[in-house]
Amino acid sequence: MTLEGYINHCRDRLDNAMGRVLPDHSDVSERLVSAIRYSIFNGGKRIRPLLVYAACQSVGGCESNADPAACAIELIHAYSLIHDDLPAMDDDDLRRGKPTCHKAYDEATAILAGDAMQSLAFELLSHEHMMPDSFLSDKQRLLLIKNLSCASGHGGMVGGQAMDLESVGIELSRDQLALMHQHKTGALIRASVTMGAISHSTVEDWQIRQLDSYANAIGLAFQVQDDILDVVADTNTLGKQQGADQALDKPTYVSILGLEAAREYAMSLCDTAIQSLSDFDDLAQPLRQLAGYIIERRY
Ligand code: IPE
Ligand code: IPE
Ligand code: MG
Ligand code: MG
Ligand code: MG
Repeated sequence: MTLEGYINHCRDRLDNAMGRVLPDHSDVSERLVSAIRYSIFNGGKRIRPLLVYAACQSVGGCESNADPAACAIELIHAYSLIHDDLPAMDDDDLRRGKPTCHKAYDEATAILAGDAMQSLAFELLSHEHMMPDSFLSDKQRLLLIKNLSCASGHGGMVGGQAMDLESVGIELSRDQLALMHQHKTGALIRASVTMGAISHSTVEDWQIRQLDSYANAIGLAFQVQDDILDVVADTNTLGKQQGADQALDKPTYVSILGLEAAREYAMSLCDTAIQSLSDFDDLAQPLRQLAGYIIERRY
């Protein structure tokens, strides 16, 4: 299968699985449910679920066992975007080519939709009946919850978001910038890869070690490319406002290293990621190809 075919296949799979776990009506608030569905089915690239499926395959696992992790990580990611776009944070009007959740609905609904999506992520990891075709032991479920909760909270994405907001107008050192990016973006990407592997019943220690080294590198590369695209892409292609980082005076890899050095750095991280998987066989091919996709993407 080509990479494009693999990506489309995983995206369809994720959308189907999401369709089965998202609420489609509510006796208490139709508006809340509508805002949740709006924020999930709005053209995201699904990179984290792609990594979950590809990592699960790399250790010999099957896709149906990876569905809960794929949906849970995308729910956390999509919630983080809703909150990231709020006036109190980046104050953006456009996301995935459409009005941001608080623009399409209102701020309170956007906050609550994000909150509910976060809870739903953990609900579907812990409730077997929500995805009956996924066969995960209690130990696997606990490990998935441990990984996702650590990657989402103060020691992961939320911590990185706090550091991002505290860094406006401040010149960070390169180490501080790496620390911020590893938290705000890297943590969920790392969790995607680990959770994909854990979704298979047997994983060797060396596999976890190599996958983690791969995920560290692409997690950082992903945000370096996000910083580059903020400068070089156009709003239409990006589906979000171009130049938003500069407008908010955020420290980024481009502001610290310059465009060319940021590009070179992204490429070297991609090489590191691919080299990390040296002991894996062809089953890891999608993972290797996704490293390239992450730094070559145009949006
Ligand atoms: C954007 O993530 C926010 C960052 C963490 C940099 P993506 O580029 O994965 O966004 P979607 O999900 O495709 O919209
Ligand atoms: C957002 O980073 C990271 C999270 C939502 C955790 P950015 O603020 O750079 O993302 P975009 O550029 O708005 O998508
Ligand atoms: Mg932000
Ligand atoms: Mg933002
Ligand atoms: Mg950005």
